[in-house]
Amino acid sequence: MKIIDLRSDTVTLPSPEMRQAMANAELGDDVFGEDPTVNRLQEMAAATLGKEAALLTTSGTQSNLTALLTHCRRGDEVIVGAESHTLIFEVGGAWAVGGLGLRPVRNDDRGRLDMAEVRAAIRGDNEHFPRTGLICLENTHNRCGGAVLNEEDLSSVRELADRKGFPVHMDGARLFNAAVALGVPVSRLAAYADSVCFSLSKGLGCPVGSALCGSREFIAEARRYRKMLGGGMRQAGVLAAAGVYALERMVDRLADDHENARLAAEGLADIPGIDLAPPPQTNLVYFTVDGWKLPEFVRRLEEAGVLCFDEGGRIRWVMHFGIERSDVEEALARLRPVMAAGA
Ligand SMILES: Cc1ncc(COP(=O)(O)O)c(C=O)c1O
Repeated sequence: MKIIDLRSDTVTLPSPEMRQAMANAELGDDVFGEDPTVNRLQEMAAATLGKEAALLTTSGTQSNLTALLTHCRRGDEVIVGAESHTLIFEVGGAWAVGGLGLRPVRNDDRGRLDMAEVRAAIRGDNEHFPRTGLICLENTHNRCGGAVLNEEDLSSVRELADRKGFPVHMDGARLFNAAVALGVPVSRLAAYADSVCFSLSKGLGCPVGSALCGSREFIAEARRYRKMLGGGMRQAGVLAAAGVYALERMVDRLADDHENARLAAEGLADIPGIDLAPPPQTNLVYFTVDGWKLPEFVRRLEEAGVLCFDEGGRIRWVMHFGIERSDVEEALARLRPVMAAGA
C-alpha cells in the first residue's frame, strides 16, 4: 500500500534533478563569503523578492529569529499575530535568545492582524514602557488555513508602521504560494515589508533552508546574528544548489498543490461529519471531524495509509511536491470507509 503523506509540505524529497544540481554545485567557504552557489542563490532570492540582498539560513525559524534580532534591541516588543508561527512554534526564541517581548494581537480567519488591536498594542513614548520594535506578518498564514494576505491587507500594516516609525518583517515561509494564488509577482507582496523570509524546504521541495531578504545594510547585520545562531554553514552551496534549482523550476508547480487542495476540499465537503475549517486558499486544508477524538481519527487514517496531523481540534492535510491528483483521490477513497465505520 502506498503511504500518502499529507502531514506537511516539509516532507518533500528532492527530485533526482535537484539532487544532481546539488552534486554538481561549485563550493567554497560561505562564512568567508566564498561559496559561489550560495552567493548565486542569495542574489537570485534578493532579485526575485525585489530586495537588495539575501541570506541563506538553515530554517524558517532561524530566518525569523535572525530578523527579529537584527531589527530590534533587547527589551523591545514585537507585535505578532496570536496564531503566528513565530509566537506558537518557534520555541520562544525571541524571549529566550533575544530578550524581546512578543506582543500577540488577534488574527482573523484570513490571517490578518486586527488593526484596532495593533494600534492599541503600539507603545507610546514613555520611559516606563518597552519600545515597539517591529511588527510581524505571516503570508500565507499557516494556522489560518493557508490564508493569503493581499496587497490591501499588507498596505494597511505598512502605512501604520511607517506612520509610527518601526519596521515590518514578513514570515513568508509560503510567500510563493501567496503570490501564485494571487497571480502576482512575489516582489509585489515583499514590497510591503522591510525584511521577508521564505522557505526553500516546503513547497519548493528543497531538503533544507530558508532565505532572508532585505536591504544590504540589514542583511550585513543579519549575517552576524545568523552566525551567532549557528547558521554559518561553510560549503553550504550543496544546499543552495537545491534552492537555485527550486527558484528556477519549482515555483509554478505550486499551482498544482493549490488545485489538489481544492480537489481535496471538494471531496471532504461531501463527507457527512466533515467541515472545512476554513475552505483552503492555497495548499493547506484544515477540517473538523464530528464525533471523533482526533488522535483516534489520525490513527485510523494511518492504518489506511494516509498520514496527517491533528492540529489542536482540526485535522490538516497538506498538498506538496510528491502528492499527485490521484493521491488526493485515493486519500479520499481511504477516508470514506473510515468515516462510514464511525469512531
Ligand atoms: C509560517 C511558518 N513560518 C516559519 C516556519 C518555520 O520553518 P522551519 O520549519 O524551516 O523552521 C514554518 C514551518 O512550518 C511555518 O509554517
